[in-house]
Amino acid sequence: MKLAISGKGGVGKTTLSAGLLMALVKKNKNPIAVDADPDANLAATLGFPEPDKIIPIAEMKELVEERAGRKGGFFNMNPRVDDIPGKYCVEHNGIKLLVMGRIKKAGTGCYCPENALLKALLTHLIVGREDILLMDMEAGVEHLGRGTSGGVDALLVVVEPSLRSIETAYRIKKLADDLKIKKCFIVGNKIRDENDRKFIMKKTLGLDVLAFINYNKNLIDKINIDDMKVFSDMLEMVKI
Ligand SMILES: Nc1ncnc2c1ncn2[C@@H]1O[C@H](COP(=O)(O)OP(=O)(O)OP(=O)(O)O)[C@@H](O)[C@H]1O
Ligand SMILES: [Mg+2]
Repeated sequence: MKLAISGKGGVGKTTLSAGLLMALVKKNKNPIAVDADPDANLAATLGFPEPDKIIPIAEMKELVEERAGRKGGFFNMNPRVDDIPGKYCVEHNGIKLLVMGRIKKAGTGCYCPENALLKALLTHLIVGREDILLMDMEAGVEHLGRGTSGGVDALLVVVEPSLRSIETAYRIKKLADDLKIKKCFIVGNKIRDENDRKFIMKKTLGLDVLAFINYNKNLIDKINIDDMKVFSDMLEMVKI
């Protein structure tokens, strides 16, 4: 099972990712988490010790150079990556985490070894491995390239009770359709009352709403076990 989480900035992607990862661990699964957000903070949210000391793959200069750098005048467009999860995952409380780092915007005709390596690594994680994978992404789904996105079982798009976040969700849904991602679900977050729930239902017509997560002050510092049910229910719904 490969899940990707997207949505507008600040809606709760990382919170949802962390909640689902913890729910997976509770079910005795051993998930791999990918932090594909340039401003990575999944490690901190998951309570990894010294999260600031984790070096993102894109910033591992020697590795990037060795795998995807220029050799004999040629760039390696298809770098070896199969050993990277084993060597560079950090692990805490049963969750393995890979922090990807900043994916540079594709420039015209410019080859960037960091992007080549990250792209190959994502492809490998999505289509080349059996693990349960969960990716915390930014608003776009662009880094799920055409070749890899077919391997994603579901994309969860987080919204909050705001029009802006729902507009972003429609834009992401369109990208997901273009990339032929099989299932795309909406998760309504930061729900304070019935009106919030109704607002999201009304404004997301045509989209599949998977679940709602209540506004919960406790979620801000730390996800605790009492908040887990909504996350484990969600796993049931996406059939993990
Ligand atoms: N259900 C909730 N109840 C209360 N606070 C929440 C809830 N979900 C998320 N938050 C808070 O909202 C803020 C943004 O959440 P989070 O970092 O998960 O969003 P994000 O979409 O990953 O943001 P970014 O786009 O910056 O990566 C955090 O302070 C988080 O604790
Ligand atoms: Mg985040």
